[in-house]
Amino acid sequence: MDAAAHPPYVRRTMLHAVRALAIVVLLALGGLWGWAWLGRGEGEGVGESFARVAGRILGQEAQAPSVGGVQLPQGMVLGGPFSLTDHTGRAVTEADFAGRFLLVYFGFTYCPDVCPTELGTIAAALDALEEQGERVTPVLVTVDPERDTPEALADYVSRFHPRMVGLTGTAQQVAAAARAYRVYYARVQRPEMTQYLMDHSSFIYLVGPDARVRALFRPDTSPEAIAQAVRGQLRGT
Ligand code: NI
Repeated sequence: MDAAAHPPYVRRTMLHAVRALAIVVLLALGGLWGWAWLGRGEGEGVGESFARVAGRILGQEAQAPSVGGVQLPQGMVLGGPFSLTDHTGRAVTEADFAGRFLLVYFGFTYCPDVCPTELGTIAAALDALEEQGERVTPVLVTVDPERDTPEALADYVSRFHPRMVGLTGTAQQVAAAARAYRVYYARVQRPEMTQYLMDHSSFIYLVGPDARVRALFRPDTSPEAIAQAVRGQLRGT
């Protein structure tokens, strides 16, 4: 449509319509972003929350296979290869865990509350699984490799579960692993605190024997719900 071909009052009306449409689109996007911001989980980035909310509106969540926990948008692949150092100081990759199920959490040992809660949840889920739990390895990947040395991790993970594996690495290795799992993390220095904190997303990932994420669980998911989802996955193998 050529606006110049119309009389001035029509052109004005069209311009108004275009402007109104632009405002509506901006308001809708803004509203969606606001909704994502308000609805984001503890430690979840706005971007992640936005993707989740947008995915829900587009109906993508409903199409993904139901395995318990948060549904991955269709076509989204999480997990895969990594290269890190475990809490005994040994270099490890995903191949060292091949054939095993993992419950993976990204956090850090200086975390005051969320990380200990979620790691406790993983341990409780394994307890609830009884012998079946022996097929699952609990894993903490640090997002704070500067302070979380293998020694620091060894002491920390042993407090949660005797078989829990702590993984650290160079800043680049940790960043690569976090990227593969779409984990957000950032260093935060509050003026009233002498030690910095790490802001980070807080999902528990159920990883299959192929190193791919099968399900993820929001913060505050009960150990029973996680155990049930793991049971469902174990049955399929
Ligand atoms: Ni934390």
